[in-house]
Amino acid sequence: MKVQLCLLVLCSAACAFAGKLPSFITPCSRSDPQLNTCIEKVISAAGAKFTEGIPELNIAPLDPVQLGTVFVDNPSLKLTFSDTVVTGLRGFRVNSYKINMEKGKATLDFTANVTLKAHYVMDGQILILPIRGNGQSKIKITNLNIVIKYDFDEKDGHWTVPSYKDHYKMDRAQFKFTNLFGGNKELAQTTERFANENWEIIMNEIAGPIFKQIISKCVDQVKLFFDAVPALELLP
Ligand SMILES: *[C@@H]1O[C@H](CO)[C@@H](O)[C@H](O)[C@H]1NC(C)=O
Repeated sequence: MKVQLCLLVLCSAACAFAGKLPSFITPCSRSDPQLNTCIEKVISAAGAKFTEGIPELNIAPLDPVQLGTVFVDNPSLKLTFSDTVVTGLRGFRVNSYKINMEKGKATLDFTANVTLKAHYVMDGQILILPIRGNGQSKIKITNLNIVIKYDFDEKDGHWTVPSYKDHYKMDRAQFKFTNLFGGNKELAQTTERFANENWEIIMNEIAGPIFKQIISKCVDQVKLFFDAVPALELLP
């Protein structure tokens, strides 16, 4: 009985917001002949606010986004990031948006400058150079370009996203690691410089697990958003 009452109270709190498009979003009409351009503009205009999170709809912030622990487990390099936080997504720029209503497919292409900060523990080598340490790390990524191709369906008046594919690339990454080699300054400086000169090789090793998590956090929030706001309100 108590449980049911609880659920009822919870539902009336949650349901009061259901079907409410946040006021910072001005929806496009699905019969707009320039639907792609219209949605592209809506995402550009509302995106930064969306990344702050929408507590009434249970949408968590995407800037900063907490990734928790990220493991990189390659034959040549073991690396663990913990308390990982990524900032910068709010400044994203939409490159393009394409939707095919009949096929239930859409593609979002965007670029952002992001910074990852985490505690790190690392042991292994990059190319032929050993690298080892335990401290704070910062990775600045310039023009991280993410393309998400997703499928969507409509169920009970809401969009669902049964699957998606992602692709990413970047212009540059810069690393800062404190306490490399237990604080051996000279060795640390040389290694950090070497790492920054060879950023592409390092990012090839470590980018996978990091970006998979960033992208899945973004997709999760969009799914929650689709759960909260009916498709007909998002695209009347
Ligand atoms: C990222 O930063 C670079 C230079 O620091 C700038 O040229 C570029 O426009 C920025 N990208 C975005 C998406 O803001």
